[in-house]
Amino acid sequence: MSHISRTAVVLGCVLAASAWCLTAQGVSAAEGDAAKGKSIYQSKCVTCHGPEGKGDGPVGKALKPPAGDFSNAESKKKSADELRAIIENGKPKTSMAAWGKQLKETEIQDVLAYVLTLRK
Ligand code: HEC
Repeated sequence: MSHISRTAVVLGCVLAASAWCLTAQGVSAAEGDAAKGKSIYQSKCVTCHGPEGKGDGPVGKALKPPAGDFSNAESKKKSADELRAIIENGKPKTSMAAWGKQLKETEIQDVLAYVLTLRK
């Protein structure tokens, strides 16, 4: 995409905030393998976060607060690194557990890459 200027890429990212944009900008968190992340997500996260990451899984929607919706404006303000830290360390006062001991670093990268694809 040599004919597309970097400014256009950055501007597109501001508008779209998609995982493609993160990749286009070389953000490290997008290095994970989203396909592998999807299977981790479907075994460990989907009951709470729901198939599309809207926080509406059967368990997640009954929680207080409900599981995070990765596509809402509040969530999209967070950087990939912030989301990674939450996956690793959990979120105090919510049901979001720390996955850092159960998942390997590469698995966290992969599941994060998949979560970023749900941010639409
Ligand atoms: C028991 C239900 C549950 C499971 C299972 C779960 N989560 Fe969560 N998750 C939550 C809750 C609750 C929050 C906090 C929502 C809030 O802050 O209002 C959260 C927050 C998050 C956030 C932060 C979202 C944001 O914008 O602040 C990320 C990222 C996340 N979870 C990823 C994952 C991943 C990846 C997995 C699987 C490895 C997972 N979660 C499994 C319930 C769950």
